[in-house]
Amino acid sequence: MAAHSNLHAHNGQAGKVPIAGTPDSGLKDAAGENPSGPVAQWLEPTAHNGLVAGSSPAGPTTLRPDGATRGAATRSIIDLGQAVSGIARRVTTDWMRICGTFTVSKASIILITRDIKAQTQHRKRNTIMADRLKGKVALISGGATGMGGASSKLFASEGAKVAIVDVNMEAAQATAAEITRAGGVAIALKADVSKADEVNAAVAATHKAFGPINILFNHAGTIVIKPFLETTEEEWDWLHDVNVKSMFLMTKAVIPHMLAAGGGSIVCTSSISAVLATPNEVLYDTTKGAVHMFARAIAVEFRDRNIRCNAVCPGFIQTPHGNREVKELAALGVDVSDAAIAAQQGRMGYPEDVARAALYLASDDAEFVTGQQLFVDNGFSAV
Ligand SMILES: NC(=O)c1ccc[n+]([C@@H]2O[C@H](COP(=O)([O-])OP(=O)(O)OC[C@H]3O[C@@H](n4cnc5c(N)ncnc54)[C@H](O)[C@@H]3O)[C@@H](O)[C@H]2O)c1
Repeated sequence: MAAHSNLHAHNGQAGKVPIAGTPDSGLKDAAGENPSGPVAQWLEPTAHNGLVAGSSPAGPTTLRPDGATRGAATRSIIDLGQAVSGIARRVTTDWMRICGTFTVSKASIILITRDIKAQTQHRKRNTIMADRLKGKVALISGGATGMGGASSKLFASEGAKVAIVDVNMEAAQATAAEITRAGGVAIALKADVSKADEVNAAVAATHKAFGPINILFNHAGTIVIKPFLETTEEEWDWLHDVNVKSMFLMTKAVIPHMLAAGGGSIVCTSSISAVLATPNEVLYDTTKGAVHMFARAIAVEFRDRNIRCNAVCPGFIQTPHGNREVKELAALGVDVSDAAIAAQQGRMGYPEDVARAALYLASDDAEFVTGQQLFVDNGFSAV
């Protein structure tokens, strides 16, 4: 992920609040607060449009500025309404005061609200299973954590046997164990995807365990964030090895199995960074541009042999990679504040947002879709 030209380099981080939905966002405490004091009060507009607290809900009839007389029942309802709205305003004001050292911008509040709604919706969606990958074997590189981890779990819940290939064996084993506990089938295999012998061994082990591989999700990858003039030749070669050569090695090792099995589907993780540049990410952006074209070219060369290949292009996603990227860009003065991300893509994405898109591309639902880039960024790249 990354940002495009709308995320400018700057020096200040004013306006930054904790990422929405985090335990320290403050929203939960404020909303759950019991405003016992304000219940006995009501708020009345004054001539200068300010709000002042009255002392008793029973009193306002004779004190109203418009001097109107109303029936007792109507008056009670109106007073109750005013009391409730007064409490709501007071709670909001108190919450903003409680936030103290933080400057809570309107955009941040919108971001928090959208985040809560989106979390509820996506939790519901994740409980739906439809066996869309029943009988398939999927190899997911970088399948231990983040979007790869979410994809490992989703693909398994849709019936695939999943080989998680990752350099982080501890996390890969934990994800495989979680899948197994949930009734799915998964194995964890250790490999550095930039090394040919390790990739070949992982592909052979997958084939031995599960049979021919039908789905390859080339997800493993990482990032170097540095001013261009400080980027070293070693870093350049290393990141291209991990992000791009890895796709060459893995795809070259898997395609013969797919051909023998009559076809398959390949998904490659690109990024909005393939088409939208960010300061301090020349190296990273270049690797993602290469992934874009890799997926297209494979699609064209293998279309008539029943192998599809597409790229999935996430925006800013809440993963170890995404969180580190935000932190390091901010340290270099790039505006990746909550407000900036809210303006570009509404909220931070969840790993599951991308897993569902990868599932679509991997499954037979996308049988007539190849050589495409599917942006999962809530419109970031469309603006
Ligand atoms: N998070 C984002 O905002 C974002 C946005 C766009 C694209 N991406 C892409 O997603 C990938 C990062 O994944 P994530 O965001 O799910 O974060 P992540 O860091 O949680 O996952 C990356 C996984 O890849 C594994 N990995 C890294 N290098 C490896 C190697 N050499 N060999 C084998 N496994 C390796 C890691 O151990 C990890 O499990 C990168 O390709 C990145 O370009 C991320």
